[in-house]
Amino acid sequence: MKGVILAGGTGTRLNPFTKIINKHLLPVGRYPMIYWSIKKLSDAGIKDILIVTNNKHTALFKKIFGNGEELNVSLQYEVQKKDGGGAADALLCSCSFIQSEKCVVLLGDNIFEDSLVPFVTKFKKQSSGARVLLKKVKDPERYGVAVLNQDGNQIESIHEKPKRPLSPYCVTGIYMYDPHVFTYINKLRPSDRNELEITDVNKMYLANGRLHFDILEGWWVDAGTHESLFHANQLVNGMTDLEADL
Ligand code: DAU
Repeated sequence: MKGVILAGGTGTRLNPFTKIINKHLLPVGRYPMIYWSIKKLSDAGIKDILIVTNNKHTALFKKIFGNGEELNVSLQYEVQKKDGGGAADALLCSCSFIQSEKCVVLLGDNIFEDSLVPFVTKFKKQSSGARVLLKKVKDPERYGVAVLNQDGNQIESIHEKPKRPLSPYCVTGIYMYDPHVFTYINKLRPSDRNELEITDVNKMYLANGRLHFDILEGWWVDAGTHESLFHANQLVNGMTDLEADL
């Protein structure tokens, strides 16, 4: 199983910092934001990791993390040619890295408490398809939202940033895909915000009856705004067992 961390995009919600630096390099606790994604993958036994980022900032990532040796992982880098082309467009850049393996994909601005181990274990047993992780939130309109069936054991529909959410369950930026994901991405059309949306990929798996899910129990933050970045810092600083070894 391979890992991909998506760390491109423009990060405009974190201006003015993102005029000079990639948002995933902003500090969360004592480390750059993306460190926590690398650690989550590594702790789940996923050591072969690709970071997809934008051309302007790749050198900085390499300067901080190099080939990953210091973190006991193997890191490779890929540039997303279409800056801000969407998370699914960024994921497409990992095609030759993933080849025919399954992968765990993290949006690099998602910081969370749960270990990935139980979810990855379930995904390994899954013969094909995808698995997404949900989190009950107070402000689902900010995210992709999953509506569950009455028994709460199946996703019925997914909506990207709905004005009137029909469910409190956010689809977090933690995704697990079989290699079929690239066929789906190649069929995508740009959304209203002119991006290839990862939500549309999940919808394709759902339409084919191949989307499974789990629900996170611990805290979860999308650190893409000033307020949520501050909150992520508070939560990470409150943890004692995530001592880093950079
Ligand atoms: O955080 C969870 C949410 O993330 C999901 O609930 C939504 O369904 C999903 O669309 C996404 O929403 P955002 O609007 O927060 O996405 P954002 O544009 O902030 O991008 C999320 C990550 O994807 C970010 O950490 C970097 C990466 N990305 C994004 C774009 C647009 C890229 O690598 N390249 C890109 O072109």
